[in-house]
Formats: sequence, structure tokens, C-alpha cells
Amino acid sequence: MAQKRILLGVTGGIAAYKSAELVRLLKKSGHAVRVVMTRGAEAFVAPLTFQALSGEPVRTSLLDPEAEAGMGHIELAKWADTVVVAPASADFLARLAQGLADDLLTTLCCATEAPIVLAPAMNQAMWRNRRTQRNVELLQADPQVTLWGPDQGEQACGDTGPGRMLEPQALADRLNGACEGPLSGLRLVITAGPTREPIDPVRYISNHSSGKMGYALAAAARAAGADVTLVSGPVNLAGPAGVTRVSVVTAEDMLAAASEAVDRGCDIFIATAAVADYRPANCADQKIKKTASDLSLELVRNPDTLATIAGRPDAPFTVGFAAETTDVAKYANDKMQRKKLSMIVANDVSQPGVGFNSDNNAVTVFWPGGQQDFAPESKTALAGRLVSLIAERYRTARANQTKP
Ligand SMILES: Cc1cc2nc3c(=O)[nH]c(=O)nc-3n(C[C@H](O)[C@H](O)[C@H](O)COP(=O)(O)O)c2cc1C
Repeated sequence: MAQKRILLGVTGGIAAYKSAELVRLLKKSGHAVRVVMTRGAEAFVAPLTFQALSGEPVRTSLLDPEAEAGMGHIELAKWADTVVVAPASADFLARLAQGLADDLLTTLCCATEAPIVLAPAMNQAMWRNRRTQRNVELLQADPQVTLWGPDQGEQACGDTGPGRMLEPQALADRLNGACEGPLSGLRLVITAGPTREPIDPVRYISNHSSGKMGYALAAAARAAGADVTLVSGPVNLAGPAGVTRVSVVTAEDMLAAASEAVDRGCDIFIATAAVADYRPANCADQKIKKTASDLSLELVRNPDTLATIAGRPDAPFTVGFAAETTDVAKYANDKMQRKKLSMIVANDVSQPGVGFNSDNNAVTVFWPGGQQDFAPESKTALAGRLVSLIAERYRTARANQTKP
């Protein structure tokens, strides 16, 4: 198991006492843990408790001249490879959703490029509150943020319902890469983002893919228990917590990295990447100068990552994505048959507000003998539903394969 540098944010909720146990479990697993507490958290647990358990000084204040002598908050934001906020209060969710940076923890969350995991904990009415739910939706649409929980059950105030923080052991297991869910024990390889095909040292051909759908699927598959490798073209997104990311640039790199990941063992391959179909036949060594005449580029076909993986004799269960502007069902079904896919997720990118670069998506999924429509919603919420359907179809396909 990879050792992580975990920045644990503790906010002012009654579950703050449980975070002391979380620090103990994370330290036991060999992770480095530094704790930042909000002023609210200090009312519930003394910083000394976290200092003793983490073996590191606890930071509580942003405007602390001594700690900030060397821009301590930026150093902390860069140090972390994962930020975990447990418990995450309703107030903290609201401030994070709005991008506030009015204390040390919110400022760190603004400054860090690391994935941010939130473990909400609050009274059930506070969790159900319309404004809290609006903040939760905003956070769910943020690819840097993953929410774990809350759980249902009996609460400290005597109510019963959603709002309990996941138990420290469950949080530690997830951080250690031992999530439980419909994809537990399965290995997924997911491609995401665009590719860049160089013309010369400063120019390239690419497309509008943001990678958001692939990253949301990787986070959802991880949360569903899968061991996930994300082969990503150049995007402006943080890798989801617990996911192994392999960064690539060109279509040829993408095929090589995806094939390598599949060679290592892969049950389900999901291709969301918008791989360039063509690349310049030659990449100039020097920047091509502007002249009085026109410039022609000769383009050659790129390898087809999806068809190559789906065509392997040991092909995994393969899910393709199709971005179409007309006759979506016809083209998607053709592509599924031509490329020997197990399923295809089709989106009509001509619809306003969904698809490329958007935070929302609406899709229709096809598989041999069936289809299901998914109404427009955030890519994060949609990713969770797609992962459930993919898990179900995978199990059905495997059960049919083993029938006598
Ligand atoms: C006894 C007590 C228990 C509380 N428990 C919670 C809780 O579990 N979850 C929550 O969101 N807020 C809870 N609150 C309210 C927060 O402490 C309050 O909203 C505070 O502003 C949170 O600040 P912080 O997010 O900066 O830590 C509680 C308050 C009190 C007095």
C-alpha cells in the first residue's frame, strides 16, 4: 500500500472526537498525517490530542505570524497528496462550496491541487436542509472533491436518519484503498481527456474534451470498490483519491499506456477519452515559420485504442463512449457492433448545456438487446448511476458466459 501525506481537517461537529481514532488508524497504516482544526473543532477536542496522535504540530489559525513566516499555509497545501475533512460540518460544506477562504482550512482547500475528500457529519435535519443539499450538489459537481458518506442511523442528538459520519475504520479503509461496493475486487482501466498531436514543438491538434466525465467515473468506480487506473490525456483536473493516474499526451501514448494497464490485469475497460483520429504525418523539429504561402498538413490515422483493447483475445468487458450530433442511436449501435463493445454510452453533444466541457451530461446507454436513458444531471451524479449499471451488466455478461 502506498504511503500518503494526508492533511486531516477537523471541523466543529460532535463527531470530531472520532477523528482522533482516524489519525491513530492512518498513522498505524504508515501514512504521514498533519491536522488542521477550525475554531469550531477546538471547542470539541483539544489540539493536543491530535498533536500527540499525529506526532506533528496542529495548525489552527491562518493569521499566525510565526507559522506563516515561511507561507505555512501554501507549504501545507503543497505538502498534502490527499486532503480529508472529517467531520465536515454543514457550515464548512457551505463555505467550501462558495469558494470562501476565511480560515486556515478553507484557505488550504483553495490552495491545494490535491484531491479533497469530505466526510460530512451533522444532524439529519441539517443534512436534509435544502440549502445544505444545494451546497452538496455544488461540491459533487466539483471534480476535485469526493464526498464519503454520510451514513444513516442513530445520532448524538437522539434523532435517527442520514448525517452520521462514516466510522473512522471505514474512512481509513477507503483511504487505504479497501473500498467495498458493487465493483469490489474488480480492476478497471479508464481513459479520459483529449490527446494532443504535435505539429511542431509549440503547436498541436486537439479537441474540447475536459476529462470531467472520465474523472467522475474513476472516482465513482473507486467509491464502488474497484481498483482503478486512469489513463489521462492533458487536463486541468486533480486525480481522484485512491486512483492510479497515468498521464499521456498523444493517441499513441494513450494506446501504449492503456495496453500496459490492461496487460497488468483488467476486468472492465471504459474508454471516455476523446482520442484524436488523426495526427500530423511528421512533427517538425523547429517551429514552422509563417510564410506568404498556405500551409498544408498531411494527417495520418492514429491507432484506435478502444477497438484495439476490445479486439484482444483476452478483451475485458469494454465500455465505449460516443459523442454524436445526429442519429445518436444509429451511430452508437453501429460503433458498438463494429468495435465489438460490451456497452456504449452515447451522448448527443449538439444539445445545449451537456457533453464536452460542461459539468452536466445526459446519455443513453446501449448494450446488445437493451438500452437505458439517463436524464441531464451533474457528471458526478451520472457517473454513480453509470457505474451501477456497468457493474450490473458486467455481472450478467459474466454469468451468461459461464452458463453451460
Ligand atoms: C454541541 C454542538 C454540536 C454540534 N454538532 C454539529 C455537527 O455534528 N455538525 C455540524 O455541521 N454542526 C454542528 N454544530 C454546529 C457547528 O459547530 C457550527 O456550525 C460551527 O460554526 C461550525 O464551524 P466550523 O465548520 O468552522 O468548524 C454543533 C454545535 C454544537 C454547539
